[in-house]
Amino acid sequence: MTPSRSPLLWASLALVACGASPSTAPTEAPFIPRPGPDPWSDALRLAPAVDLDPDPRVVEVNLEARMGEWEISPGRRVRAMTYNGTVPGPLIEARVGDTLVVHFTNRLDEPTTIHWHGLRVPANMDGAPHSQPPIAPGETFEYRFTVPDAGTFWYHPHVHEGVQMERGLYGAIVVRGANEPRADVEGVLVLDDLLLGADGQIAPTGDLVEQHNGREGELSLVNGHGAAELPIRAGQRQRWRIVNAGSARFYRLSLPGHRFTVVGTDGGLVPTPRTVDELFLVPGDRLDVLIDGTGGPGEVATLRNLPYDRGHGAGLTEAIDVLRVRYTTDATVTVLGPPPMGPRIERIDTSTATPREVRFSERIDRDAERVVFMINGRSFPDVPDLMTRVGATEVWDLVNESEMEHPFHLHGFFFQVVSRDGVAEAEATWEDMIQLRGHERVRIAFRVDDRPGHWMYHCHILEHVDNGMMAALHVMP
Ligand code: C2O
Ligand code: CU
Ligand code: CU
Repeated sequence: MTPSRSPLLWASLALVACGASPSTAPTEAPFIPRPGPDPWSDALRLAPAVDLDPDPRVVEVNLEARMGEWEISPGRRVRAMTYNGTVPGPLIEARVGDTLVVHFTNRLDEPTTIHWHGLRVPANMDGAPHSQPPIAPGETFEYRFTVPDAGTFWYHPHVHEGVQMERGLYGAIVVRGANEPRADVEGVLVLDDLLLGADGQIAPTGDLVEQHNGREGELSLVNGHGAAELPIRAGQRQRWRIVNAGSARFYRLSLPGHRFTVVGTDGGLVPTPRTVDELFLVPGDRLDVLIDGTGGPGEVATLRNLPYDRGHGAGLTEAIDVLRVRYTTDATVTVLGPPPMGPRIERIDTSTATPREVRFSERIDRDAERVVFMINGRSFPDVPDLMTRVGATEVWDLVNESEMEHPFHLHGFFFQVVSRDGVAEAEATWEDMIQLRGHERVRIAFRVDDRPGHWMYHCHILEHVDNGMMAALHVMP
């Protein structure tokens, strides 16, 4: 026993331990550990979505897209597009199997939709091209679906992504399952960056170079704030659910004196938690990590984003400070033991499949003064659909014919990375977002479950989607 831990904490850990044992797990309402008893930073707390339905298995919220003021640092405001007036929008929390009902109203003066990035929803709820016509200004739409998987997800529009998301339309979703790893405190960190113009407002859409490389801003934001600070207690274990909501910035994060234990990726917990020195997130990515407070009371460590060349020198800027982690002077607590193994993930058998090639390329159209991004030589909306059926196993070779990296996203299904340039992946995980390096060939595999319809796949650099690097998988019943 470690007397430095509060009785409250011990009580909650005991509960977690018994809830985590499969033999005692009740079938009706499974015990799902809530975030630990220690407080998360006030400054970094996301506005919670207000649940209007008393039924514990229904999360019913109002979301409104509207113009607003975004306070990026104390006293410094920019005009923004917001969900319910905040950036990020309200944090939606649910348990596996809950029904999520969202009453959405568009109060912008342009059409929009909401896409539930990473949630396996029915196609007509996916908020993407081919699955939903854009919601006109003044109109409403009711999204309603169950959330089948535990993990960290996010929501954002699928119309003029490079403008609407850059201006603040994004929010996080946390879905908890029955066997969450223990931590003393848990929180969501949504990363973003902003480019401001001379007038101090978010800069308008930029030149050819920006269209080509994607926008990276000089201002680094966590949960909508610059110069953010997170308290930690010596010995405390924190669980960070990280979302990269940036337009084009790749995050390569390091926290001097600390290591990260990755317990989850896009599709939930990984089989083998891995301890690493750096975290890497392409745009759209999520990582679920544990970090132990190995520093002493009063110390400060800075989470930094290190330079990373993602092609043509983009991303090779100086390291930037993302978050200050400040140790409180509270008494030290004892670090929890290593996290347990995650769920077993069976590898999809691809031995008999003939992979389809999905090629990513780009060219500059000098006459139109634009960069054209293509999939299989064509640009959205002129890329022919890939056709498949419910029940099929899909194996794709993602081939990057350009030097620039293209973070690949698939809607609707989690996939496994089979190999990179012919080298088999060490362990299967579930992803909806992966890094596709310059001139790389990545083989992925996924099973098409019973949700027919059109499912988009695209590069998650927003300027690249806006300029055509998107297509659809058509799943027939
Ligand atoms: Cu964040 Cu089409 O996705
Ligand atoms: Cu998506
Ligand atoms: Cu791209």
